Amino acid sequence: MFGKFSRRHFAKLAGASALGVATAPAHAAAPATAGQPASFPQGFVWGTATSSYQIEGAVNEDGRGRSIWDTFSHTPGKIEDGTTGDRANEHYHRYKEDIGLIKQIGAKAYRFSIAWPRVFPDGTGAPNPKGLDFYDRLVDELLKNGIEPFATLYHWDLPQALEDRRGGWRSSETSKAFADYAGHMAARLTDRVKSIFTINEAGRFVTFGYGLGIDAPGLKLPDADVNQVRHHVALAHGLAVQAIRARGRAGTKVGPAENLATCVPAFDTPEHVRAAEIATRELNSGFLGVILEGKYTDGFLQYAGSNAPKFTAEELKIISSPNDFVGLNIYAPQFYIAASDKPPGWKMLPFPASFPHMSSDWLRVGPETIYWAPRLAAKVWNIENIYISENGTSSEDKVSADGQIYDLDRIMYLRNYLRQLQRATSEGVPVRGYFLWSLMDNFEWIYGYEKRFGIFHVDFATQRRTPKLSVDFYRDVVARNAIGV
Ligand code: BG6
Repeated sequence: MFGKFSRRHFAKLAGASALGVATAPAHAAAPATAGQPASFPQGFVWGTATSSYQIEGAVNEDGRGRSIWDTFSHTPGKIEDGTTGDRANEHYHRYKEDIGLIKQIGAKAYRFSIAWPRVFPDGTGAPNPKGLDFYDRLVDELLKNGIEPFATLYHWDLPQALEDRRGGWRSSETSKAFADYAGHMAARLTDRVKSIFTINEAGRFVTFGYGLGIDAPGLKLPDADVNQVRHHVALAHGLAVQAIRARGRAGTKVGPAENLATCVPAFDTPEHVRAAEIATRELNSGFLGVILEGKYTDGFLQYAGSNAPKFTAEELKIISSPNDFVGLNIYAPQFYIAASDKPPGWKMLPFPASFPHMSSDWLRVGPETIYWAPRLAAKVWNIENIYISENGTSSEDKVSADGQIYDLDRIMYLRNYLRQLQRATSEGVPVRGYFLWSLMDNFEWIYGYEKRFGIFHVDFATQRRTPKLSVDFYRDVVARNAIGV
């Protein structure tokens, strides 16, 4: 029958049916291609995520100390649009309104981060009662609204005092200070906060902040020092896990939130999948691998050569203290991996210039990444509980004449990624929850306010929050615990 139609006709027909124009008799059978709603497991956790420096503002209020991001964003030339997080979303004062936004989505979980310098203005020493009070109020308000708090202890806002006094993460003294802070927060919050992420994206802030100089603190250290910094961050994670277990309520769950180097098999054949497994292990050995295995791989150490981090067996033991879950921040495919006859048995394929990306250049579109990353990680490290601790995209997000924000590209991205995530859970990959980045537009680090990742639009002049079309999309997924019809 379709032989009679040209492609153009067929496209028109499809368009008409999308508009609700009947193109077939009502009694016609559903097309064979009709999908099924693809459900997520019962109890799957749906949430959104934010971080302290990106939304709180109030940087000089109630005794908060300076962070390395205050210093960095105030350094001319570091932030593309010349802005800072001084005011950001004024969430410090508007947190109740923002929790109302989470309620509008119907999401029952929220991942936020605690600003270390708000709680310990000098990094160590006496805590700041007003800073602690803020997180108490935030947690209480979340619980009052039936939203489960997931707290992250470090989302890059290191107390400037620690950078000045100890060289920040260049010193293992900072790892110890982090453990003290983690223990303190566990004692304070775990009567109400049951899940804690230690450190967000070591894979990014170590390389960008200490190696390439494009994130705070803006250093360009030699490779050996960067590897040592990463080792100190891994040590901080392990010490924090121990401190949380020691000082938090029994049953508190803890784990990292890492942007692992995502490896996608070039295509789905056993030899490419095997190659992607090996690559996942080798390319993540410097942080996630050492945390989950208690050792750096031979491949990692050989590659690092004389630049390898210096460490003791005792440190490796601490670093690999058992986690309850692993958080994975998944945005884009980083490497397409193919099997190779030559050692090490795999190779990275080059990206063609035409590979599609979202509004952020770095954010390549590869929905299958959110299927493969947790599947490969679970296999390589035997992980039992995974959260997608971040996933989302930037979009141009212009307000239309009718006041709406039609972020159809974000919906396209989320719809495809969530389909792939559902594929993973339906095959038994142990993903327990998903946190969409981000609840609302915010200070996007070196991009300032130019990049918008929120599903709520923020007018930063008036602080008005407006739901984008993607709120409707996500609310529906959350309500049905499923994607598709
Ligand atoms: C993640 C971070 O790397 O990606 C978030 O954990 C960040 O804090 C998000 O906002 C988007 O990154 P960027 O660099 O485009 O602002």
